[in-house]
Formats: sequence, structure tokens, C-alpha cells
Amino acid sequence: MTVERDSLEINPLFTRSGEARERPRFQMADAEMLPDTAYQIIHDEAMLDGNARLNLATFVGTWMEPEAARLYQDTFDRNMIDKDEYPATAAIEERCWRILADLWHAPDPRNAIGTSTIGSSEACMLGGLALKRRWQHARRAAGKLTDAPNLVMSSAVQVCWEKFANYWDVEARCVPISEEHPTLDGHDLARYVDENTIGVVVILGVTYTGAYEPVAKVSAALDEIQTTTGLDVPIHIDGASGAFIAPFLQPELEWDFRLDRVQSINTSGHKYGLVYPGVGWIVWRSVECLPEDLVLRVSYLGGDMPTFALNFSRPGAQVLLQYYNFLRLGRNGYTAVQSANRDVANYLAHAIDAMDAFDLWNDGSDIPVFAWRLTGGHTENWDLYDLSAQLRQRGWLVPAYPLPDAMTDHTVQRIVVRNGLSMDLADSLLDSIHECVGYLDGLAGPLPKERRVTTSFHH
Ligand SMILES: Cc1ncc(COP(=O)(O)O)c(C=O)c1O
Repeated sequence: MTVERDSLEINPLFTRSGEARERPRFQMADAEMLPDTAYQIIHDEAMLDGNARLNLATFVGTWMEPEAARLYQDTFDRNMIDKDEYPATAAIEERCWRILADLWHAPDPRNAIGTSTIGSSEACMLGGLALKRRWQHARRAAGKLTDAPNLVMSSAVQVCWEKFANYWDVEARCVPISEEHPTLDGHDLARYVDENTIGVVVILGVTYTGAYEPVAKVSAALDEIQTTTGLDVPIHIDGASGAFIAPFLQPELEWDFRLDRVQSINTSGHKYGLVYPGVGWIVWRSVECLPEDLVLRVSYLGGDMPTFALNFSRPGAQVLLQYYNFLRLGRNGYTAVQSANRDVANYLAHAIDAMDAFDLWNDGSDIPVFAWRLTGGHTENWDLYDLSAQLRQRGWLVPAYPLPDAMTDHTVQRIVVRNGLSMDLADSLLDSIHECVGYLDGLAGPLPKERRVTTSFHH
């Protein structure tokens, strides 16, 4: 554990005349500080963060072009909730979710409804809340109890779904993944769905591995359940990453509103939407899917505008950046960027698979994300955590972590290929992996193991 001193010492070159050389670290000082000094201190401390471009753990955007940065600079003062004061930003927000409704084949995009959010986590909460409220209305109308709602999902869901279940008193009914069923694929679904099921979450781009869950198969399994039990269970798609990939790389894949059961879809604008952190989206196939009693009204151009959100104030600039990308890239530009990412992911995946030490879990053909395992029997001397630590010494952040419930004895290592990881950088990464594996394979005995907390990896 790092021991932090109580005082913050300031380099004599940073302090300006009359300024103290020390500040309390954990209390607010009485005295003011000159802006240059404050800037320098924080700038220097932030240098200790990893290099964002070499961070292959995150899905979140780490680069936008200078024009986008300029727009950001121009608009960072916009508060998204102040629709009346910033009507242009509000209009652009609506344009963005309508564009997404169209991209995701809403049957009538003019009758769809959506909103921006701070990210996919908030969007998932809203999607889950709409499912719960619709189920409650239907149950009450039928004179039935509403005290035990459940939501069916894979054990490999992102942590935001566990939060949703916990915060809103919904039972998370997790279908465990296995070697035979590495994703939620409709197998055995009838054992999990009952009259208290508010919906099924299907993930387009599982966080752990990047693989798509087969939405059409899950939907067909729910059709069968409806035939035998009469239960009509809706689907929410968690497309945090994939909803910005599939429309461009797998346009024929039916995962979205083309399937009648899909009621709502969320995505992260700040992942493959290619915006800096702070924007997500959710769209419902039609206004009827979003119960009126969840909607609040804020003033807008002398009238009122419906809003559905957990936060009140939040940044509006990211929404403008999303629209920048829509204008700037269009379908062709998004396709070009995502294809380049996929090519790099496929290239890296196959090069890693060609190494004796590794077996691929998936090859990055869904979203440009892939994971691998250590080949059984390859070595007792090191594991993927050791490789991760070795790569970190060279600046690369490539996490290793256990798979979720029922497969926690399997460790995988994952690479998220994002805009900015060029083929050149990929070659440097491969060189580093080869060097690290060469070093680890050359060890005369096993590396000492520190005790690891083997919780799953959540982003
Ligand atoms: C499938 C999935 N859902 C939800 C989230 C949460 O997204 P956000 O970080 O935008 O809140 C993630 C993040 O990695 C994810 O992969």
C-alpha cells in the first residue's frame, strides 16, 4: 500500500513568489494558489497514469481528431439537461438518437424514443427500469403480484447489470457460460424464464471476450417459450460495443429492431462510437415501450420536453462530439475505421494463436476484441498474469482475468483494438509478446505467486 504524506511538497521552481512550498494533501488550504502552479502540480501527478494509446484494456475512446478537440473546447460548458438554455444541443441530441434508431432498423424511427446518457451503464439502468415498469403495469392490470421480478442474462454480463438488479430489487437470473455454451445462446432458457421475468438481456459484444451473443437464437427460444407457456418476454440488447460495430461490419446480421422481440438497445458513444468518455445512448423501438410514468418533463423553448435519465446535470459536449462523428464519418467512414480495427484484431489474434504458448478463445471477428488462454500443459512456471506484468514493464496494458461464474478456473487475456492501434503498433506489441514469452519460457523454475484476488474483470 502506498503511504501518502500529509503534506504536498511543491517543487521550488513551480512556486511563484510568496507561495508556500507545502500544502495539506487531505484538507483544503486557506490560501489560494496561482493557476500555473496548480496546473503544473496536477499535470505532473497525472503523468503517472498509463499511456492511454497503449491501454489495450479499455474500450473507451482515447483519441479524436483536432477539429473534434476544438469543438470540445468550444462547448465544454453545455449542460445537457438545460434544454431551454441550450436548445441547439438538445436538438442535436434528438437527431443523434434518431440516427441510431434508423441505423438499428426501428420499424418507424419517427415513432422511436431515445436519449443520451453518461454511458452504457446509465443506459442499461434505464432499459432495465422500462422493462420492470412495463412488466409491473401488465401484472397489475391482470391482478397479479409484482413482488418478485427477475431479469435473465448470461453470467458474463457487465457489472452494470448486477448493479441494476441490486439497486432496483430485481433478481439477476444468470445463465452460466460453459465450454459448450460460451455465450447466452437460448440453450435451456425455459428453465430460467417464468411469469416474473421482466426481460432477457442479450449482449452484443461480451465484455470478457468480445463475442456476440446470438440474438436471433435467443429470440427464437423465447418464441418457443411463448408457444408453450404464453409468456411474451422482451429482449434488451446491451450493445455497449457491438451496436456501433455490427451496423458497419456485419450489416446482414439480424440482432436489432429487425427482431420483433427487441424492445430497446443501448450503446456507448464513447466506445466504438469513437467519442471521448462521457456519452451513451439508449433507443426504444417505439414510444409505447417506454412507460409514460417514467418520463419527467423539463422546460424547453417555452414548452416542455420529456426526459428519462438518472442524472440531472451532465456534459452536453460529448453529444455534440457524437454528432461530429456522424457528420464527419458517415456510414463509409465508420465502416472504414471499424474494418481497420477488425483487420488489426484478426492479425494480432492469428499471430498470437500461432504461438505454442496460446490458444485463442475468439479471433476478433465480432467486435475487434479477442481473448486467449495459455495452452494446457505449456508451462507450470508462469501464467497470463505474469505475462501481463511483463508487458506492463514495456508500457503495454493487456489485462489477464478469470472468466465469470462456472468458468472461474479459466484465465484469459484480452486485447481491445481501438482506433489508433495501427498495424505498426500491433507489430511492436507482437515483438513485445514474443520477447516476454521468450523470457518467461526461459525461466529455470516457477515465478513466485503473490496472492491474487480473483474477482472478474469488469471493463
Ligand atoms: C457489454 C457492456 N455493457 C455495459 C458496459 C458499461 O459501459 P459504460 O462504461 O459505457 O458505462 C460495458 C463496458 O465495458 C460493456 O462492455
